[in-house]
This record gives sequence, structure tokens and C-alpha cells, in this order.
Amino acid sequence: MRSSGQPEICCQIDLIPKGFKRDQQPKPALDFHTILKGDILCAHLIMESQQCEESSKTGEEDTAVDEELAKAILARQFHPSVIGPETWEGYIFSGLEIRIKESTDLYGAVLWPSALVLCHFLETNRDKYNLMDKNVIELGAGTGLVSIVSSLLGAKVTSTDLPDVLGNLQYNVTCNTKGRCKYVPLVTELVWGPEVEQRFPQRTHYFDYILAADVVYAHPYLDQLLDTFGHLCQANTQILWAMRFRLDPENSFVDRFGERFHLEELYDLPSLSIKLYRAWRRDKRTDDTV
Ligand SMILES: C[S@@+](CC[C@H](N)C(=O)[O-])C[C@H]1O[C@@H](n2cnc3c(N)ncnc32)[C@H](O)[C@@H]1O
Repeated sequence: MRSSGQPEICCQIDLIPKGFKRDQQPKPALDFHTILKGDILCAHLIMESQQCEESSKTGEEDTAVDEELAKAILARQFHPSVIGPETWEGYIFSGLEIRIKESTDLYGAVLWPSALVLCHFLETNRDKYNLMDKNVIELGAGTGLVSIVSSLLGAKVTSTDLPDVLGNLQYNVTCNTKGRCKYVPLVTELVWGPEVEQRFPQRTHYFDYILAADVVYAHPYLDQLLDTFGHLCQANTQILWAMRFRLDPENSFVDRFGERFHLEELYDLPSLSIKLYRAWRRDKRTDDTV
């Protein structure tokens, strides 16, 4: 998929021989045999021009898809019509209103757009990625939207983050899932790194899905995060990870991640600088059986 919607300029249209209009394109099997020798250069240029038009068309189409999808994702958000004593942001998923309390003093107490992207994907692809009765863990859950939406979609959710964030996370998760979900979600501490082995031994904890939104940025725990994914991702586990690109280290993290897991791009949203990936263990040979 092309990341830029900019059309490329690669040939001069006035080199097209007389008789050819710009929109009257020669077919790919451009009958070179029937073209007079002197026209071969022109034929080449026409082919090039045609390819450029096609690629710029693809670029335009990609841009349109990006814009359309980004619009649909952002439309999930609404603001309270009346300002009350409690501030919150509203989101609509599974036909329900979800109210998220944020606080500006912590990274994890603000909702990041990657979370919206992942939630939109989960809801609109629930036939293929059916969370009903599945064991799901979220890393760096922050304000909890992804955990809440997964619970509403029927998953048994373990929502994790750093200790400082848990109070607000628990509040949001409880307020938005109480009486609405098949399973009561568990909110618990998980600091990325060696602790994961004690808290979630592989013998007793198996997750069908690991969910993560915007957990990669300029923090010093990227190795620990990678190891945490590695520990939790067992034979049939799928990782769904929404990644916001800001700086170069984020690109190199994706490369390192790709060395360890099969990586598939599910969404590319240049307008939001976000990609959504699906990943699974490298020692699993194909994704057919995932
Ligand atoms: C940018 S926020 C994203 C929050 C949420 N996923 C979202 O998209 O709205 C990053 C999250 O990762 C958590 N985090 C950062 N370092 C962590 C670590 N070493 N162990 C566990 N969680 C961590 C933060 O507390 C925060 O909730």
C-alpha cells in the first residue's frame, strides 16, 4: 500500500503522439508489432504515462480509503452536551455509549487515537476476529477503552498497566462494563519485563489475543515490552497492535518486532500516522491455522 497519496509526475503528456488522447489509453498488450518503428519511443512513454496514472490513481484511492476510514473512526467520539461536575469523553461502540474519564497528568490517563483505531477494527471485524468467550489481555490499557470494547464484544478480559494508572482504569472499566458484559473484566498491574513470568505463568495463563494500542514511543522499556509480547504470545495467540508513528525509534521497533513475529498490516492510516498490525509467533509456519 502506498503511504503517500501524492500523484507522481513522471512523463510529459505532450510526448503522446497525435491521435492519442490522454484518456484514450492503449491497452497493456500495446500491439508493438503494429506500431510503426518510429513510434516505439512514444509507445514507451505512453506505457510509462499509463503506469504513472495507475499508480497515482492507486495513491488517490489509498488516500480516499484512509480519509474515509479515519473519518469513521473519529466519528466514534462525542463530547458531553452539558458540562457536569465530572469531565469525560464519550465514544460509541457496540451501539453503547462509553464514558471515559481522563486526567492530563499521566500518559496512561489520556485516551490515544490508536485505541480508537483498534476498537473500530475489533467491532467492524468481529466475524473474523470473534472475541466471544476468548481470553484477551491488554497491555498498557491506559484509560481502558480497548478493554471495555473487548468486554462488550464478549471477551474474558485482563486489562493491565502500571500501578499509577490502575485507579482510573478500574473506574472506567467498572462504570462502562457493569451489567453489560458476559464476563467481568479483571484490571491488574503488569509492568513490562521479567515480572510477566511470575504474574502470568505460561502453564496456567493462555491468551487468544494480546491487544495493545500506542505502547511504543520514546520510553526506555522497549526491550521489556518485546519480551512481554514474547512471553504472552503462545502457539495460537494473535497480537493486535495499533501503532502510532512519531519518531525513528518507532520504525526500528517495528523491524525488531518483525524479526520475532510474523507481522501483517491490517490498516494503514497515514492521516493519523497509525498502523494496525496483526502478529503471531514465527515458529508457527502459516497463519491459516491461527
Ligand atoms: C501512550 S499510553 C497508551 C494508553 C492506551 N493504550 C491508549 O491507547 O489510549 C501508553 C501506556 O503504556 C503504559 N506503560 C508505559 N510503560 C509501561 C511499562 N513499563 N509497563 C507497563 N505499562 C507501561 C502507560 O502507563 C500507558 O498507559
